[in-house]
Amino acid sequence: MDELQDLYRQVILDHNRNPRNFGELPDATRVVAGVNPLCGDKMTLYVKLDGGKIEDIRFKGTGCAISVASSSLMTERVKGTPVTAALELFDKIHDLLTAPEDQEPPADLDKLAALAGVREYPSRVKCASLAWHALKSAVAEDASNVTTE
Ligand code: FES
Repeated sequence: MDELQDLYRQVILDHNRNPRNFGELPDATRVVAGVNPLCGDKMTLYVKLDGGKIEDIRFKGTGCAISVASSSLMTERVKGTPVTAALELFDKIHDLLTAPEDQEPPADLDKLAALAGVREYPSRVKCASLAWHALKSAVAEDASNVTTE
C-alpha cells in the first residue's frame, strides 16, 4: 500500500509541476470560473464542445498543487470524450472523494485514483473537486442542448 501511495504522490507532483492542457482556449464554447470558497483560489475552465463531445479543454488558475494536479488529470482524461462519459466520471470522482479513507478506488479510474489521497485531509477535498465542479457546470448545460449544437 505504501508503494501505491508513493505512486499516487508522484502522479500529483508530476501533474502539478507539468500541468497538461494549461492555458486559454480561444475557440472555447464554454468558459466557467470556479472558486474554492475555503482559500479564495480561482480557476478558469475552457471547453470546446462539438456534437456532444469534449473536442478540446484547457484550464488556467493559481491554486495549490492538489487543485492544479486535479485540473490537469481531469482535462487529460476527458479530452475527446462524450459529455455523457464526462458526467459519469464526475459522479465517480465525487464518490471517490467522499468515500471512507480505507475504501479502494475503482480500478477504471486509473491515474485519477491518485486523488483519493486527499481523503486524509478533509480541507483539501475542495481543492481536488474544484475542477470537476467546473467541468460539470460547463458540460451539464450542453447535455440538455446536445442535439441542437
Ligand atoms: Fe486553494 Fe487548494 S488551497 S485550491
